[in-house]
Amino acid sequence: MTQARTVAVLVGSLRKDSVSRKLARAFAALAPANLKFDFVEIGGLPHFDQDLESDPPAQWTAFRARIAPADAVLFVTPEFNRSVPGALKNAIDVGSRPYGQSVWNGKPGAVISLSPGGVGGFGANHHLRQSLVFLNVPLLSQEAYVGGAFSLFDDAGELVNESTTDFLRAYAVAFAEWIERIAPAAQARKAA
Ligand code: FNR
Repeated sequence: MTQARTVAVLVGSLRKDSVSRKLARAFAALAPANLKFDFVEIGGLPHFDQDLESDPPAQWTAFRARIAPADAVLFVTPEFNRSVPGALKNAIDVGSRPYGQSVWNGKPGAVISLSPGGVGGFGANHHLRQSLVFLNVPLLSQEAYVGGAFSLFDDAGELVNESTTDFLRAYAVAFAEWIERIAPAAQARKAA
């Protein structure tokens, strides 16, 4: 049996009825059983300020401690003004410091972006990928854009669109395979 892997999930939207969160939940439900998803909240993180690093806010420390042991990271995000929502960028910045202690380093990752329109959050997806490449997050190169996102869920928040369901299931399998290619080496490095 494939080893259990923990995937930290960061959702780029803070609102209660977020379609991104619904999509992330649907992805988690469709994924291979060895993937365990830990939804890590980012809304309460104080803005990154390097001056606070000598006595970091408790929320930063808790966030870093939650991401650090995860085997992989998944980002599910809308696009804000053709880029990454500020709260998500802040979370990435918080996790990246102190210098040399980034919690992202070497963790396999995947990005899913979405939009109510047809473009599927392309700008956010690529800006996010740019930061993650800089942070040495080996990304599943297969891209995931979900357009028309408002019409994919029923009133209870369940994914009801068949082709999106099929796409997410296949993407989750690809991500699980990617994690197995990357995570063992990352674990060995940590243990050394
Ligand atoms: C948006 N939205 C948006 N959509 C898009 O496709 N491209 C964009 O650049 C933007 N810009 C943008 C800026 C701001 C400040 C807001 C609030 C919204 C619309 C956005 O995709 C839509 O609100 C999604 O529903 C947000 O995702 P959640 O909150 O449902 O997960």
